[in-house]
Amino acid sequence: MNSYVILISGRGSNMQALLEARLPGQCVAVISNRPEAAGLAWAASRGVPTRVVDHRQYPSREAFDTALAEAIERVGGELVLLAGFMRILTPDFVAHFAGRLINIHPSLLPAFPGLHTHEAALAAGVRVHGCTVHFVTPALDCGPIIIQAAVPVLAGDTPDALAARVLRQEHIIYPQAARAVLEGRCRLVDGRVVWDDDATSADLALRVPA
Ligand code: GRF
Repeated sequence: MNSYVILISGRGSNMQALLEARLPGQCVAVISNRPEAAGLAWAASRGVPTRVVDHRQYPSREAFDTALAEAIERVGGELVLLAGFMRILTPDFVAHFAGRLINIHPSLLPAFPGLHTHEAALAAGVRVHGCTVHFVTPALDCGPIIIQAAVPVLAGDTPDALAARVLRQEHIIYPQAARAVLEGRCRLVDGRVVWDDDATSADLALRVPA
């Protein structure tokens, strides 16, 4: 794949990490469903085209997803990278982009899907938490996993402290995963993630920071 789009809803720190990683392919647009998303200004300041497809302007989830898919096709984005994109996507949208739609989620899936993952991890008392890059399938936060990074949960952690520790790893593994998919080293085949090279895959599958 030679081009990608990044979908955001807010801050855009993962978008920034992706753009700064100089991935092998052109970022043809950053698209937000919220005109006020802070990440839009940062992308524009770096010369990346930006678009807004405001979900509030559409009567239904289906209508919004159709407009979003059209915007992606219009700019020519092959790989679609969800980076803090806070919308549940319809099965039709997910099917249309099957194998080229990726998300980052702030937990070690399948633990803690959905929102408020850091609060949930602290409430559950887990000792290890982290983040996951995965291909998107219709079920929320459930798709085949590309790379995960683990971090310790420390005594006295607050949700914010834990979120910051996880976010540092998100900024490392998302560009790694996007690069592997853009280079064709990692693909979705029959619902499973297939790597060209076992050694690379083992090396990248789990990142455990020192
Ligand atoms: C990240 O924690 C990401 O994993 C989650 O939403 C947050 C977005 O942060 N899906 P940012 O907009 O990339 O800074």
